[in-house]
Amino acid sequence: MSYTPALHRYQSMEYRRCGNSGLKLPVVSLGLWHNFGGVDVLENCRNILHLAFDSGITHFDLANNYGPPPGSAEENFGRILRQDFHSYRDQMIISTKAGYYMWEGPYGDWGSKKYLVSSLDQSLKRMGLEYVDIFYHHRPDPDTPLEETMATLDLVVRQGKALYVGISNYGAEEAARAFAILKKLGTPCLIHQPKYSMFERWVEGGLLQLLEKEGVGCIPFSPLAQGLLTNKYLKGIPGDSRAHKPHGFLKEEQVTPEVLKKIGQLNEMAIKRDQTLAQMALAWILRDKRITSVLIGVSKPEQVTDSLQSFRNTWFSEEELRRIEEILK
Ligand SMILES: NC(=O)c1ccc[n+]([C@@H]2O[C@H](COP(=O)([O-])OP(=O)(O)OC[C@H]3O[C@@H](n4cnc5c(N)ncnc54)[C@H](OP(=O)(O)O)[C@@H]3O)[C@@H](O)[C@H]2O)c1
Repeated sequence: MSYTPALHRYQSMEYRRCGNSGLKLPVVSLGLWHNFGGVDVLENCRNILHLAFDSGITHFDLANNYGPPPGSAEENFGRILRQDFHSYRDQMIISTKAGYYMWEGPYGDWGSKKYLVSSLDQSLKRMGLEYVDIFYHHRPDPDTPLEETMATLDLVVRQGKALYVGISNYGAEEAARAFAILKKLGTPCLIHQPKYSMFERWVEGGLLQLLEKEGVGCIPFSPLAQGLLTNKYLKGIPGDSRAHKPHGFLKEEQVTPEVLKKIGQLNEMAIKRDQTLAQMALAWILRDKRITSVLIGVSKPEQVTDSLQSFRNTWFSEEELRRIEEILK
C-alpha cells in the first residue's frame, strides 16, 4: 500500500532556526543509530518513519556505520525512502557522517580527504540519494590536519553532494578552530552534534556559549542517555530493551543501583509535572533556546508519540531546577 503523509503534520511540530542559518529543524529529530539495521524488522522501521513524518519530524540522522551490520541503516532507510517517501524528498533533512571505523585499511577511518569523500559517495549510493542535506565529520582526528578535514567538508558542498556541513564530538576548542577554517573557506558550519543529557553535561562548560557566539546550531544526541532517562529500567531490564540486546551500545552494567536511584527520583518529579520521564528529560534540554533540536532514537512507534509531547511544556520552576541538580549530584 502506498504511503500518504498526514495532512496537518506541520501544525503539530515546532521548528527552530539552526544557528544563524536559513534552515529550520523540528525540535525533535529522529536518529537511526539503533533499531534500523539489518538485524532489525524492516516493517517496524517503516512504521516508525511514517509516524515520525506524520508528526512533523522532517529531520532524519544517519551515519555510514549505523547498523549492524555497518551501512545497513542507510540501506534500509534508502529502501523505505524509494518506496514511500520519493515524492517528499524536498520536505526532508537527511544527514549522514563519516569519522569512525568503516572499512579496513588506512582509508576507512578518521578524517582524511580520501576517507570522507569515498565514504560520502558510498552513503549516497546506499541511500539512493543525489545529495544529503547535512554531512558531518563524526569525531575529531588527532592525526589529520584540521585544515584537510574542513577543506573536504567545503569540497563536498561545492560538489553538490551536501547542502550543509557539521561536526560531531568536537570539544569547544577544536570546534572553534574548525568554525574559523570553515568560515574562511566560505562554507560556515551549520551545526554541532554533541552528546548531551541530564547525565552527560560537558557541553555546559563552554561549548554552548561558543555555538551561540558563532551562530552554529546544536543538536544533542542520546538526550535520553540511550533510554536510561525513561521509566523503562525501574523494574528491571526488559528483554526488548537496548541494554539487553547483544548489539546494543548500552550495557546492562550501566544500569547500576546509583543510576536507578536517580532515575526513580527524576521519575517522581516527572509525574508531578504530568510528564513521563522521557518527556521531562527532553523538555529539560529544550528549555535552552540555544538547542536547535533533540536527536532521539526509538525502538517502537509509541516512543515517538510519547517523546513528541516533550516540547508542550519546557518550562521549569526554580525549585524544580534546583531539585534536578540535587538529584543529579
Ligand atoms: N554523533 C554521534 O557520535 C552519535 C552517537 C550516538 C547517537 N547519535 C545520534 O543520536 C541518535 C539518538 O541516540 P540514542 O538512540 O542513543 O538516543 P536516546 O533518545 O538517548 O535513546 C534512545 C532509546 O531510548 C529509549 N526510548 C526512546 N524514547 C522513549 C520513550 N518515550 N519511552 C521509553 N523509552 C524510550 C529506546 O530504548 P529501547 O531501544 O531500549 O526501547 C530508544 O532506543 C542516534 O540515532 C544517532 O542518530 C550520534
